[in-house]
Amino acid sequence: MISRWTVVVDRDDLTKTEVLHDELPTDLEDCEILLRVSHVGLTANNVTYGVIGDMIGYWRFFPFAPEGRGVIPVWGFADVVDSTLDAVPAGTRVYGYLPMASHFVVRAKLTSSGFVDTADHRADLPAVYNSYLVTSQDPAYDPALEDLQALYRPLFLTSYLLADQLADNKFYGASTVVISSASSKTAFGTAQCLQGKGVRLVGLTSPRNVEFTTGLGLYDTVLPYDASVDVEPSVYLDFSGSADVRSALHDRLGASLAKDISIGLTQQKASADPRSEFFFAPEQLRKRTADWGSEGLAERFGTAWRSFTAQAGSWVGIAQHSGPEELIEVWQAVLQGKVSPDTADVITF
Ligand SMILES: NC(=O)c1ccc[n+]([C@@H]2O[C@H](COP(=O)([O-])OP(=O)(O)OC[C@H]3O[C@@H](n4cnc5c(N)ncnc54)[C@H](OP(=O)(O)O)[C@@H]3O)[C@@H](O)[C@H]2O)c1
Repeated sequence: MISRWTVVVDRDDLTKTEVLHDELPTDLEDCEILLRVSHVGLTANNVTYGVIGDMIGYWRFFPFAPEGRGVIPVWGFADVVDSTLDAVPAGTRVYGYLPMASHFVVRAKLTSSGFVDTADHRADLPAVYNSYLVTSQDPAYDPALEDLQALYRPLFLTSYLLADQLADNKFYGASTVVISSASSKTAFGTAQCLQGKGVRLVGLTSPRNVEFTTGLGLYDTVLPYDASVDVEPSVYLDFSGSADVRSALHDRLGASLAKDISIGLTQQKASADPRSEFFFAPEQLRKRTADWGSEGLAERFGTAWRSFTAQAGSWVGIAQHSGPEELIEVWQAVLQGKVSPDTADVITF
C-alpha cells in the first residue's frame, strides 16, 4: 500500500479545505500506471475550475473526494512510480492535468506523445485534459523551464488559440481589442500573441494592478476598471466575469462593440450574458487540429511558446512552496485575490 494525501475543498465553499490521508493499493490492473505528483502551478484558473466545477465537469476528473467535496485539478509534472506498460516504465516523467494529491492512478492508452487516461469517469470529458505528455517525447520540453511550463502552458495554449481565433476572423471588423483582468497570465499571454497584428490593445485592470500591467509593455493603453474606453470598433475579451464592466462597455460602445467573448471569471461569479460568447479552448483546438494536423499545430504553438517563455520570466517572479499545508496557504491566497500579479506560485508535492 502507498500512503496518499489529498487536499479536498467544499464544492459550495471553496475556502473550506482539508488534507485527507488514505492508502492506495499497489496491485495495478492491466494498462494502469501509478503516478507521483512532483510539482504544479496554481493561479486563478484553478479557482475557476472550482467555481464552475459542476457546469463543465471539473469535479469528475479526480473523483476521490467524499460526498459534497471535490479535488481541484492543477497542471504540472508527475513521475511514474509503478506501471503495467513496458513503454511507460517507472521513472518516466510526464506533464498534464493532475489532482491536488500526492498520487493517482491512470488507465493509460499510448499515444505518439505519451498516453491518455481512458478511465471510465473521464471518458466524456474534454480530451485535452486527458492526455499526458512524456517529457522525453515532447519537443517543446526543456528541464530548465519546468516551472514556467507548469504555470503557463495550459494558460498560454488558451491565449494562443484565442488570439488565433480573433485573427482568423479578422478581428470581427474591429481595430481595438479591450481585455479585462489584463494583469492575469492568460490575458497578457493573449496580448503577447496579438503583438504586431495591427490592432490596438487596451487593458482593463484593478487600480492596484495598473502599474504592473503597464510595465508589461504589452498593451497600448492600460486603464483602471472605472475609466472610460475610447469609442471605436472593438472586440471585448472578458477574463474577469464582471457584469458591471460588461454593462459599462456595452453602454459606452453600443454598436461599436463588434464582439464580446467570455474567457474567464477571475471575480469568481459566473455571469452568463446572451451578449457574450463563451470561448472554450478545446473547441478551437479541435478546429486547428483539423485544419493544420497535430504536427502543424504543435509546430506553430511551439514557436509562439518559445517566444512567450523567453519573456515571461522577466514579467513574473516564481515563489516556491512545498507540501499540502503550503498548497492550502497558496490556494487561500489565490482564492482571495491576495497574490500580486508579479508573483506566481509553484508547489512541490
Ligand atoms: N476558457 C479557457 O479555456 C481558459 C483557459 C485559461 C484561463 N482561463 C481563465 O482566465 C482567467 C485568468 O486566469 P489566470 O490563471 O491567467 O489568472 P491569474 O494570472 O492568476 O490572474 C490574476 C489576476 O486575476 C484578478 N483576480 C485574481 N483573483 C481575484 C479575486 N479574488 N477577485 C478579483 N480579481 C481577482 C486580478 O486581475 P485584475 O486586477 O487585472 O482584474 C489578478 O491580478 C481565469 O478565470 C481562468 O479560468 C480560461
